[in-house]
Amino acid sequence: MPQSSAAKLAAESDLFDPVELGPYKLANRIVMAPLTRSRADDAGVPGELQARYYSQRSSAGLIVSEATNISAQGKGYIRTPGIWSPEQVEGWKLTTKAVHEKGGRIFLQLWHVGRVSHPDLQPGGALPVAPSAVRAENQKAYTYDGFKDLVTPRALETDEIPGIVADYARAAKNALDAGFDGVEIHSANGYLLQQFLSDKTNKRTDRYGGSIENRTRIVVEVVDAVTKVWGGDRVGIRIAPLTKFADIGDSNPEPLYRSLVDQINPYNLAYLHVIEGDTGGERNPAGGFDLQLLRRAFNGLYMTNNGYTLELAVEARRKNLADLICFGRPFISNPDLVERLRLGAPLTPADPNTFYAGEEHGYVDYPSL
Ligand code: PHB
Repeated sequence: MPQSSAAKLAAESDLFDPVELGPYKLANRIVMAPLTRSRADDAGVPGELQARYYSQRSSAGLIVSEATNISAQGKGYIRTPGIWSPEQVEGWKLTTKAVHEKGGRIFLQLWHVGRVSHPDLQPGGALPVAPSAVRAENQKAYTYDGFKDLVTPRALETDEIPGIVADYARAAKNALDAGFDGVEIHSANGYLLQQFLSDKTNKRTDRYGGSIENRTRIVVEVVDAVTKVWGGDRVGIRIAPLTKFADIGDSNPEPLYRSLVDQINPYNLAYLHVIEGDTGGERNPAGGFDLQLLRRAFNGLYMTNNGYTLELAVEARRKNLADLICFGRPFISNPDLVERLRLGAPLTPADPNTFYAGEEHGYVDYPSL
């Protein structure tokens, strides 16, 4: 589309207008998606480099941080940051301060990978944990020695689950101490919480498996624990009901996610973040359902994600299909994405070779207009 017609499209949309999210007035409806960049140190401590990266992107209405490990056990990829040690909390303070100095808002994404890990990344070389001993197929672990096959995880004992929920609560408290504006519970993309939700990965026979009520239980417990720290209005949750990412899937996702939404509504969360379709892929996969059902059922703001362009975002607002639109990859290579979209300016393409585990190049050296 020519730059002038893109700018006209942008000018006629409320995408660039302020919007209230919980106690905050966001500058616009554009959100920077959580993006793994694997540039923390080996102890999961972020530093000045992350502060610079996020601060460059602080014109987003909201930034959701890269997925951040709630515990040493929650880690599944090299150099991903954590929020469980005092050093990590101190490291994150550089980022929250830098974003706030530019007037931005940033939520931290709380992450436990579950089975999507490898003994090389686990404390004491232990097996990764999951609801059931079901291995993720077609997926490799990114370890310090390169890509390795995933292993069959160890099924969590029932009496270990309160400890996992407590790890979420501690991480949420640490995020508050680190100066974040809120937290997002990562219940998507085939990681631990979605492993509990999905019947492909949850084969348990205790109160955390079987019925929809049982499979959603840990997620509701995490929401309960995290909102005790933050209140509901500074907490969001991310789901991906139709994704196949990390070999996840459910035989009947519609009633499952309807039930989850009904159960979390009493917590009055700030937003529901929904990945439309398959993560980074097909937006309307076969066997899907109308995700707008979830929007209508949910009582907070609806944030959406997956391959959005200016045109799709403007259309989503015009048809009132979403309140907030998340952009992922475009934010990697366009720190001033909001301004570029508003002007209809060309976007710099991202270099996938620099997505993970590098340093400054491909991270903080993309140009602004
Ligand atoms: C990744 O590190 O590749 C990753 C992390 C979190 C996601 C998706 C992908 O939700």
